[in-house]
Amino acid sequence: MKTIKIFDTTLRDGEQVPGAKLNADEKIIIARQLEKLNVDVIEAGFPSSSPGDAEAVKRIAKEIKTPVITGLSRAVKSDIDILWNSVRYADRPRIHIVLGSSDIHVKNKFRTDRKAVLAMAVAAVRHAASLCPDVEYSPEDATRSDIDYLCRVVREVIWAGATVVNIADTVGWAVPQEFGQLIQTIRKRVPETEGITLSVHCHNDCGLATANTLAAIKNGADQVEVTMNGIGERAGNAALEEVVMMLATRPDYYGAKTAVRTQEITLTSRMVQEMMHIPVQPNKAIIGGNAFRHSSGIHQDGILKAKDNYEIISPEMVGAVPHEFVLTARSGRHAVRHILESAGIKIDGNEFESVFRKFIEKADVQKEVSSQEVIQLVQ
Ligand code: KIV
Ligand code: ZN
Repeated sequence: MKTIKIFDTTLRDGEQVPGAKLNADEKIIIARQLEKLNVDVIEAGFPSSSPGDAEAVKRIAKEIKTPVITGLSRAVKSDIDILWNSVRYADRPRIHIVLGSSDIHVKNKFRTDRKAVLAMAVAAVRHAASLCPDVEYSPEDATRSDIDYLCRVVREVIWAGATVVNIADTVGWAVPQEFGQLIQTIRKRVPETEGITLSVHCHNDCGLATANTLAAIKNGADQVEVTMNGIGERAGNAALEEVVMMLATRPDYYGAKTAVRTQEITLTSRMVQEMMHIPVQPNKAIIGGNAFRHSSGIHQDGILKAKDNYEIISPEMVGAVPHEFVLTARSGRHAVRHILESAGIKIDGNEFESVFRKFIEKADVQKEVSSQEVIQLVQ
């Protein structure tokens, strides 16, 4: 079973979301929780973006011990030096450099040519490698890049000292099968990738970030870049909880696992929602309010008979409260009886039928009926 490294960028890509900005104290609190969650890498910020962020990344580097601590840098010496000055205090520091590789970026953003961009990439990686033993290079917009050029960039940055190469689907352009093939092609055409960590970073513009990330794992990626709750630029990044729990649920298919302590997922998610002011929708996979709530009578009856009828992940496994029944007019006798028996009330025959009728009348009027209200019907 292969172990996939989890690179968490909640504090960098996630923090780019409007309204999600954190101060240094808040960043430290989330970083401590990410350490408890046992992620492999924390991308703590973008130090050259502001002195405040440089300071926050430095504090995280000094305090957080287990994960690798990194931050983002453009491919320019001054940014790399600022980043190094923040992460150098970590037990395991990493410099992460980003530079576009698609012609769209080369021509429209940098207004230059491929050769010049490649030279910038190599110079930046060489400089970073002279400071830090662990250097990650991200060809931004890799999925819209010419494959020959992309392979050349990957090969030359490895020669220059990159220890991690991160294939970025910056704009959510990829589709799973194609993205999986891209990872295979890079592995095949650049055998040097065998000696380094091959990573992916997927955005969710068309809702495929998790699917693309999983396809990359299936096709040879060693590290995945994710955020808690899937927050991140625009429609967000691949969600940590979705990728981790899919691997935990289907090891038979992926043959891969992570070191994440899944019981910490719900707490981490709530902390990020509250501190970054971005609540998730109720039907959000794994951590949404309804993720472990059962409302239809058929499902409630099935769960009471055997949990795995309708639960592929146990709520306890992700630190959520055990399955919860929402009583509606669609709930059946089995669920109502379960609520009553949990409260120590045993009634049968006509008595039970009369309570059940009253419950249905109430549920028709107010849509949802709480356990307390069911008990009051008996009283
Ligand atoms: O989306 C992106 O391309 C990034 C890079 C820094 C990896 O966030
Ligand atoms: Zn990104």
